[in-house]
Amino acid sequence: MPISIKTVPELDAMRTAGRLASEVLDFITPHVVAGITTAELDRLCHDYMVDVQGTVPAPLNYCPPGYQPYPKSICTSVNHQVCHGIPGDRVLKAGDIVNLDITVIKDGWHGDTSRMFVVGEPSIAARRLCETAYECLWLGIDQVRPGARLGDIAHAIQRHAEGRGFSIVREFCGHGIGRRFHEEPQILHYGKPGTGEVLLPGMTFTIEPMLNAGRREIREMADGWTIVTKDHSLSAQWEHTVCVTDTGVEVLTVSGASPARPAH
Ligand code: MF3
Ligand code: CO
Ligand code: CO
Repeated sequence: MPISIKTVPELDAMRTAGRLASEVLDFITPHVVAGITTAELDRLCHDYMVDVQGTVPAPLNYCPPGYQPYPKSICTSVNHQVCHGIPGDRVLKAGDIVNLDITVIKDGWHGDTSRMFVVGEPSIAARRLCETAYECLWLGIDQVRPGARLGDIAHAIQRHAEGRGFSIVREFCGHGIGRRFHEEPQILHYGKPGTGEVLLPGMTFTIEPMLNAGRREIREMADGWTIVTKDHSLSAQWEHTVCVTDTGVEVLTVSGASPARPAH
């Protein structure tokens, strides 16, 4: 299927879905503390989405080809878990870093966003990893405008991550998004500037770089979903859904308590 171009009313629906996804993260933030389990975070988010927002949690029973249905409503990836961590009875403890990845469906449209949370006081190394991943997300966003190419986004992210001594996960990437959770194109987080698809106004996609403190290689756990670093090093990821506008970029997954973009 070709890359879909969203119309003005469709973009408005995507804006709503994006804001709602971000509001789930705002809602859950005060609950991300030592002693809570990832399953409790999932339950709180699930109930907020369904009962308060009237949204559908897109991950629940999501079943791409070759996968078993995803059993929960959010993804919780702790420490060396890279992405797609399945919530369970793991108890968060001081010093943990955790990615919460939220995807909602509202009126048939998807909004997809994730943030890193630190429980208590993180190590300097963990903080630096999380901060660098956030800078990478925004360096990628800042490349987005009509006429830019996907490789420009990829390269800006890879360059910054590797410049800080971190590695970029290759097996998972950002994606077009709209009526479907994962659409074309794939948004790689490594690559060469001036290569790849040319961006056009009305394209909507996610940028969601995963940075490892150690080597880039990953492994899938026996649950069929959770991805971990092969060397057990820490991993961090942030995600926004964006739209290419006539002049640049609009971030769709914004809400009242969205973290500010990096200062530099
Ligand atoms: N939200 C993830 C992404 O950013 C996908 C999660 S798929 C799930 O693309 F089934 F694990 F939820
Ligand atoms: Co995504
Ligand atoms: Co996501």
